[in-house]
Amino acid sequence: MTRLVRPRRQVTLAGLAAAALLASPLLATSPASAEPTAQPQPAASTAPSLIPKPSNQQALPGQSFALQPWSLVGLETSAKESRAARKVADGLTSQLRRSTGYPLPIIPAVPGLVDLKLSTNGPASLGAEGYQLRADRSTLSVVAATPEGLFRGVTTLRQLLPAKAESKTRQAGPWRISGTAISDSPRYGYRGAMLDVSRHFFSVAEVKRYIDLASLYKLNKLHLHLSDDQGWRIQVDSWPRLTTYGGSLETTGTPGGSYSKAEYAALVQYATDHFMEVIPEIDTPGHTNAALASYAELNCDGVAPPLYTGTEVGFSSLCVGKDITYDFLDDVFREVAEQNPGSVLHLGGDEAHSTPHSDYLTFVPKASALVTKQGKKVMGWQEIAETPLPPGSIAQYWGTDDNRSRELARKAAAQGAKVVMSPANRAYLDMKYDASTPIGQDWAGLVSVQKSYEWNPSTLIPNLPESAIAGVEAPLWTETLDDVDKLEYMAFPRLPGIAELGWSPASALDWKTYSDRLAGQGSRWDALSVNFYRAPEIAWR
Ligand code: ACM
Repeated sequence: MTRLVRPRRQVTLAGLAAAALLASPLLATSPASAEPTAQPQPAASTAPSLIPKPSNQQALPGQSFALQPWSLVGLETSAKESRAARKVADGLTSQLRRSTGYPLPIIPAVPGLVDLKLSTNGPASLGAEGYQLRADRSTLSVVAATPEGLFRGVTTLRQLLPAKAESKTRQAGPWRISGTAISDSPRYGYRGAMLDVSRHFFSVAEVKRYIDLASLYKLNKLHLHLSDDQGWRIQVDSWPRLTTYGGSLETTGTPGGSYSKAEYAALVQYATDHFMEVIPEIDTPGHTNAALASYAELNCDGVAPPLYTGTEVGFSSLCVGKDITYDFLDDVFREVAEQNPGSVLHLGGDEAHSTPHSDYLTFVPKASALVTKQGKKVMGWQEIAETPLPPGSIAQYWGTDDNRSRELARKAAAQGAKVVMSPANRAYLDMKYDASTPIGQDWAGLVSVQKSYEWNPSTLIPNLPESAIAGVEAPLWTETLDDVDKLEYMAFPRLPGIAELGWSPASALDWKTYSDRLAGQGSRWDALSVNFYRAPEIAWR
């Protein structure tokens, strides 16, 4: 317990006493007591590799901030936001305690006393997700107007620290940040990652890992593709065979799985704590073999097909003319809506090749009405734009620069719907990087890191008004991906690029500077044990 003397700045006696009181029990038992006092180091010479690039960042030349064994973390928040803000502070400090070995006690923010200040009392003009971050010789601060904004700012803070700050084990300092002043807010409100848990099932722990990594890049939507021909993954008590039978397998015939209500609730809570809204997708009227196999009465001929473990698409359809189809969807959407606090329910609508077109035009509005009945907005793949959409709907573009897909996006916008941009030849993370990629698909083309980054969501589709664009989403389909290592191999390094397209201003988008910043993420992913693809396009460092 020697040398934990604060060598800097004047502090009030009362403040010091309070800090000593709060900090000492932690310090007394902390490994930090064995830490040699960090000596001042020259500021890092290279600019930190922030992704997404902040909308405004200035260097503070000649200044730097260093986390020290005695650093105190001050949390400034309102009573209303204190629980959520505290979770953000806990999330940051628990990681930094692991990697630095410092105790980093959290105390109420006392001006002049705390070293790292986290505040949700910033001006409302920052918006829900905006934040200001400043690192100077005395303080590191993240100021936002909401816990969500604080969380976004904290992800920037983590990237400003040396990569080893992400390590699970204690590393040697110094923990220095070059002087900087950042003021940042997102370009788009919808910045999504989609995970297909139907073709291959991923456990709650595995999805949490994906949330950890996606939220580091400020993605704020987790779209879960919960049902398809190969498996039904969310519990619906009124139709229990959906999971007990329909969820029993996955692609290639390996055992599948599903989320119980308790498991799904844990997943939603975890996403919420990482400020990602879960968007559940129940794909209809096609991609429904798992449901049709589970309940014979859902089929037009009353005969249940066998479970399906292949990778074809477009062969299944709900029976549009049967009343039971809508009783079924009413129950399913109700129970799915109950399990999802978010504002959106995705009803799929893609590749309904076995649904007669006139039936499709009948089906989508009826299914949409069952979604809005639950108080949720309708989201669906671009094909739903062929039908009248309720106010507030979102169509998801998944085209490959083809005219039909572009026309569907424009049709959605003409109805007042918003469009989420997931161009399959750029944003689909399951596409192979090049011809030698051992996993993934290539029906939308080979998608290099550069190709997945070098497009502008607001100009990709001619004559689609910018005001119609809600944002971007990177889907990860899992026909060929059966474990987390494979998910990570396909998502990294491309997912951060889509995240930047969603967050950073169009003026910041530039492959040359982006690829240089991306190169700096490699050591971070090593520290996080991410199985990323070391794309030869990038000069990894
Ligand atoms: C899709 O890729 N069928 C949306």
